[in-house]
This record gives sequence, structure tokens and C-alpha cells, in this order.
Amino acid sequence: MAESVPDLRGIPKARAYAELQAHGDAILDGIDDTIAAMATIASLVHNAFGFLWTGFYRVATPNALLRVGPYQGSLGCLEIAFGRGVCGTAALEGRSIIVPDVEKFPGHIACDSRSRSEIVVPVSGAKGELIAVLDVDSEGLASFDHEDQRGLERMVSWFARPGQ
Ligand code: SME
Repeated sequence: MAESVPDLRGIPKARAYAELQAHGDAILDGIDDTIAAMATIASLVHNAFGFLWTGFYRVATPNALLRVGPYQGSLGCLEIAFGRGVCGTAALEGRSIIVPDVEKFPGHIACDSRSRSEIVVPVSGAKGELIAVLDVDSEGLASFDHEDQRGLERMVSWFARPGQ
């Protein structure tokens, strides 16, 4: 395979995510390995948009503990309890969270002090169970909006496909 990651910076977000989605679907065609898919999606999102940190925290203990999974960027925290930080809150509440300014999110966990804004989306498996969250960090304030939420939620819907 000689796939490369498209550079989607500067393209309207809805179009950028549609292109990235098609690219990801083609690369993951015939793959049924969760970790391989997480690694691929993290690389695509991170490099297409030039984010600071992009990766997955997997459910290690349901309703209790997240543990880092495939990611791109500087070292991530290894474990996050449900209810802690943005990731733990998204996991506990089972909903996407957009944080325009991390300094204004009580309890935000700063793995990389350069992070200014963040989005976390829950990742469900085929039975509807929470298997992970996808966390994306940016060096810019207010980098994420509902187009990012829609695009990222669609990308991680891969994990809910029948057979996963
Ligand atoms: N900021 C996250 C922690 C994960 S790192 O940013 C990679 C949080 O508050 O949950």
C-alpha cells in the first residue's frame, strides 16, 4: 500500500472531513482490527489537519478507567479515570465535548502545555458499548466546532460497524 495523508488545512471543514472519510474507508476496507483502525484514524486526522495531539483512550475498566491507545503527538497521559478531565467526562457522560479554551474547563488534564483547545468524542462498539474516546488537541484557541464533531463522530462510527 502506498497511501499518503492528504493535507486538508484551509479546505472548508465539511468537505475536508468528507474527503478524509473516503480516504479512511478505502484504507480500512477489509480490515477488522480495532487497534489498526485506531492507529490509521489517528494518523489521518492528525496529519491532515496538523493538530497537536490526536489519539484514543480505550476503556480499560468499564465505567472506571481509560488507558491510552494509538496516538500521534507528544507523550499522552497513560491512564485517565472516568469523570476526570475532558476525556473522562466525555466517557462518563457518553457525549462529545468541545472545549474552546482548555483553561476554562475545570479539571482539564494538561498532557502537553501547548494545548489550547480540544474536542473529545465517544467511540462505541458494535453492541453500542463505549470502547474508547477520541481526543484531539490544538495549539490554537477555539479550533473545533460542530463540523469537527460531526466529522470525527462519523469517522469513529467505523467501530460500530456490524462485526466489530
Ligand atoms: N486533555 C485531556 C487529557 C489527554 S491529553 O490532552 C492527550 C483531558 O483533559 O482529558
